[in-house]
Amino acid sequence: MTMRPIDVEELRGKVQGVYRQVAERPDGEFHFEMGRPLMERLGYDPATLDAVPAEALESFAGVGHHFDLAALRPGERVLDAGSGSGADAFVAARAVGPDGSVVGIDMTEEQLAKSRRLAERDGFANVGFRQGYLETMPVEDAAFDVVISNGVINLTADKAATFRELARVLKPGGRLALSDIVSEKPLTEKIKCDTSLWAACIGGAAQVDDYRGDLAAAGLRIRAERDNPEYAFISTSAQGASRDFGVKSVSLVAVKEG
Ligand SMILES: C[S@@+](CC[C@H](N)C(=O)[O-])C[C@H]1O[C@@H](n2cnc3c(N)ncnc32)[C@H](O)[C@@H]1O
Repeated sequence: MTMRPIDVEELRGKVQGVYRQVAERPDGEFHFEMGRPLMERLGYDPATLDAVPAEALESFAGVGHHFDLAALRPGERVLDAGSGSGADAFVAARAVGPDGSVVGIDMTEEQLAKSRRLAERDGFANVGFRQGYLETMPVEDAAFDVVISNGVINLTADKAATFRELARVLKPGGRLALSDIVSEKPLTEKIKCDTSLWAACIGGAAQVDDYRGDLAAAGLRIRAERDNPEYAFISTSAQGASRDFGVKSVSLVAVKEG
């Protein structure tokens, strides 16, 4: 049976619908866990989180911790791809200090509005947020030392194009540190073509060898990779996919060749 390809506009609309709620109603019911308790379980340092706006932490919807892999240094330029309400961008801003800078990119207006409001309110002068798609980011070539991304690439329809774009904005030798959802076995076409399951962070999970292949094709060489068993799915459908297909959270760091 030939399945229709995923409708990118429909997918983006569904994903924006979910993350609008994440920004504005973080106390609502979601397919996934959120907030500061999750961050601490994933490995974030509590003292670091104390220096980040609490409202950004409430809307954290990432799937892992990769700041040890990113190893940010004072003065570096960082891009947060899919910055959400800004939790990781604010953590990065503290790490790179006043001589460094962070740009967050997200496609969902309400997430951007929240992160911009918190940055302004709490005086984060070295952070800015831009609206854009990961597949076509509004930033120059080779502008960043590090790209970070948490729980986002699984939501993009074309992983190969996304990794090419992330590589484009990195300086040669720059690092990509991310956490994301992948699967051990390929998902069925039926699951992959369901935009609601995709927006719930299940349907878009790439098979892990394909994922590594797309990174390599973009000129990004993996230096370290690990599973995040601390990240657990909470809805029944997500738990079923995790069990049947090995859908799981991973973190990795890759370096741009050249
Ligand atoms: C799971 S949330 C993670 C947000 C943030 N990284 C965090 O840890 O809280 C995914 C975010 O990615 C954004 N997003 C999903 N697909 C995107 C795309 N193709 N381009 C830009 N942003 C996207 C959504 O709007 C949402 O804010």
